[in-house]
Amino acid sequence: MGALPQPAPAGACRVGIAGFGTVGQAVARLIRELAPAELQLTTICNRAVERKRVADLGDVRWTDRVEDLLDGEVDVVVELIGGRVPAEDWIRRALDAGKSVVTANKQVIAHAGPELLDRARRAGRHLRFEAAVGGGIPVLRAIEDGLAGDRLSRVAGVLNGTCNYVLTRMEGNHRCSFSDALREAQALGLTEANPAEDVDGLDARAKLAILALVALGLHVRPEEISCRSIAAVEPIDFIYAKRLGATIRQVAWIERDRNGSEPAVAAVGPALVPAGSRLARVTGRENVVIVSGEFGGETAFSGHGAGGDPTAVAVLSDLLAIARSAAPPRAPRAEPSAVSSDLVGPQYIRFTVADRPGIIAELATVFARHNVSIDAVLQEPGCPPARLPFVISLESCAASVVNRAITAAASLDFHVVPPLVLPILRPAPASGAQAPGAV
Ligand code: HSE
Repeated sequence: MGALPQPAPAGACRVGIAGFGTVGQAVARLIRELAPAELQLTTICNRAVERKRVADLGDVRWTDRVEDLLDGEVDVVVELIGGRVPAEDWIRRALDAGKSVVTANKQVIAHAGPELLDRARRAGRHLRFEAAVGGGIPVLRAIEDGLAGDRLSRVAGVLNGTCNYVLTRMEGNHRCSFSDALREAQALGLTEANPAEDVDGLDARAKLAILALVALGLHVRPEEISCRSIAAVEPIDFIYAKRLGATIRQVAWIERDRNGSEPAVAAVGPALVPAGSRLARVTGRENVVIVSGEFGGETAFSGHGAGGDPTAVAVLSDLLAIARSAAPPRAPRAEPSAVSSDLVGPQYIRFTVADRPGIIAELATVFARHNVSIDAVLQEPGCPPARLPFVISLESCAASVVNRAITAAASLDFHVVPPLVLPILRPAPASGAQAPGAV
C-alpha cells in the first residue's frame, strides 16, 4: 500500500475505530489514502485484535479493550461492530465519556436514535449515522442541510440492495426463481448475516425509521412499521405486473398526515411500481430514496446502498463533518409517533387456484360484499389448471378492507397457495399536490 501515513497536524480530530471488519478496514484504508488533514487514526479496537493487525496504518494503537476508546487519545469513536448488543451500550459509554460518535449501525439508530441523539446533545457531542441508510448515498445530510428549507411530507425508497438484486434478477429472467436469485445475492456478499432480515423487510424498515426521524422528525418504533416479505413473489408476477404497466420492487414508504391529526402511514414490502418510474429504474444492488416536500416537490437520491467502500465513504464524510463543524446538530423530538399501515390505493392480487367454473364469480361476490370495486381480471393462457395463477386488480381502497376481503375469501376451496396482495403505487403528479401512494 506504499509509504506509511504522515502524522496528522496538531489539533486533528483523533479517531478510534470499534470493529475492524470489512467496513472498518475500508475506513482505515480511506483515511490512509486520502490523508485528510483534519483526521488522525489513533486506535483500532477489535476482539482478538492480533489476527487483525496490519503493518501499513502507521502509529496506531491496537486493542481489544473498549476502555481504550474512551481515553484521551480518541475524540471520535467510529462504531462498526454491528448488532444492538454491545454496540448500543458502547455508543452510550463513548458519548458519556465526552466522545463524538459515528456509526453505521441502523438497528441501534432505528431503535434508540432519539435517546442517543438527546444524550449527544446534552454532552455537547455529535452522533452521526450517514452510513446506516443507503450506504454511500449522502441522503441524511442532503435532507438535513439541503432540504432544511422545505416541509417534508413523504419518503419512499428502495432501501435494501439484496431485495432489489433478487427482484430485478427475476424481472430480467423469468426462469430465475426467488431462491436462485437470493443464493446469487448471498454469493455477492450483499445479504445480512441472516438473509431473512433483508427478504422479510426488517433491514429496510430500520432504515425507514431513521429516514422518518431525519426527514419528518417522527420517532417511529421500527416494530410498528408493517413489513411483508418478498419471498412470495414469483416470476409470473412480473408478467402480470408488465401487463399493468408496472414492475415489482421492495418499497419502503412513510407519509405524514398533512394536519398532524392522523398517524403517519408507513409500510415496507413488495409493491407494483409504474414502469419507468424512479423506483422501477433502480436495478441490481442499488438503492434510491425519494423525498417529497410541500414546496420543493420531489428530490431523489440514488447510488450504492451497501458494500465496504461506499459505506466507508459515508463514515469518512461524517468524520470530516464533525472535524470541520463547531456546534453539534439539534436532537429531534424524542416522543414516539403513532404509525399506521393502512395505505389507500389500487391493489394487485394474484390468486393461484385449482381451476373449476365459478371461481371469479365467487371472488367478485366477496369483493362486492366488502364494497371493493374490481378494475381488471388478467389471466395468462396456457397455465396448468391444477395450479393456475390469475390476477384481479382493484380500484383504490384501504389495505385493511382488502385484507378483510382476502381473509373472507380464504375459506373458498380453490386456493393452492395463499393469495399475494401487492399495493399498486401510482405515478406522482407532475407538480404540486401529493397523491397518497404516488411514486
Ligand atoms: N443487506 C443490506 C442490503 C446491506 O442488502 O441492502 C446494507 O444495509
